[in-house]
Amino acid sequence: MHRDWGTDVLQRKSSRVRATLLKENEEEVVVEKSFAPKSFPGNVGGGNNGEPPDNSSSNGLEKWVIKIEQSVNIFLTDSVIKILDTLYHDRHYARFFVLETIARVPYFAFISVLHLYESFGWWRRADYLKVHFAESWNEMHHLLIMEELGGNAWWFDRFLAQHIAVFYYFMTVSMYALSPRMAYHFSECVEHHAYETYDKFIKDQEAELKKLPAPKIAVSYYTGGDLYLFDEFQTSREPNTRRPKIDNLYDVFMNIRDDEAEHCKTMKACQTHGSLRSPHTNPCDESEDDPGCSVPQADCVGIVDCITKSVADPNVGRR
Ligand SMILES: [Fe+2]
Ligand SMILES: [Fe+2]
Repeated sequence: MHRDWGTDVLQRKSSRVRATLLKENEEEVVVEKSFAPKSFPGNVGGGNNGEPPDNSSSNGLEKWVIKIEQSVNIFLTDSVIKILDTLYHDRHYARFFVLETIARVPYFAFISVLHLYESFGWWRRADYLKVHFAESWNEMHHLLIMEELGGNAWWFDRFLAQHIAVFYYFMTVSMYALSPRMAYHFSECVEHHAYETYDKFIKDQEAELKKLPAPKIAVSYYTGGDLYLFDEFQTSREPNTRRPKIDNLYDVFMNIRDDEAEHCKTMKACQTHGSLRSPHTNPCDESEDDPGCSVPQADCVGIVDCITKSVADPNVGRR
């Protein structure tokens, strides 16, 4: 029990260090160029310059496994992007509607698997559930904005988006259960594509977008009273450091793009197991008598590891 608590404190300390490292210029949202889908197979990797994340702990075999996982992800992402480019090259809002319908799915899939682990007492980290729900909530508002802009007007777009979403859900659940690192990297690829798509759109359409009004749902989401969940998904920022101004449609798309940049950073950080922290969670101080900081948390990576540990240690399910 004492050893577990000590391990937990060490992990919390390392999370604090990582949160500090992840913190970027608070006035400007910048997506990290951690991978390049179109550069497959030359530049593969979840870290900068194609390096796998946290390579200090990676042995040779693990590095190869990471490379294979990321190569598969990049191939899949590039294939889907080519299909979307063919179907939606000049139908922007319909494309965004499809993208945002799909974008919510992985967060729901992560939560589904984490709920299962939590039910069995295999793996408990409340921050993951909170942050993934906040990400899903953010993507839902992107979707509502696209619907208000008419992106869901044609039945074919709704049919395609909804059927891809069902397939994507089961694919992500399976991938996340087998390799959380791979699933988070796949999501990073998808989020990076979303960031690039919106970035190109606002640069191409800036003058036009500035003349158009913002959808009501965008004004209420970005400037409404309770912005707790808006702060919650931005894990590289302190709460209350980003408060958008929404005067027109350009502002809306700029903020959606910046949201995607935040998703990218979080998905990248998540590839290092146990590193995710809610921006609202106060760092634990071992000198403080805080029961929330001293409760040991079960830990395992993927369903195979979770089952193996629960069989080897009967106390796992009681934590
Ligand atoms: Fe989105
Ligand atoms: Fe996103």
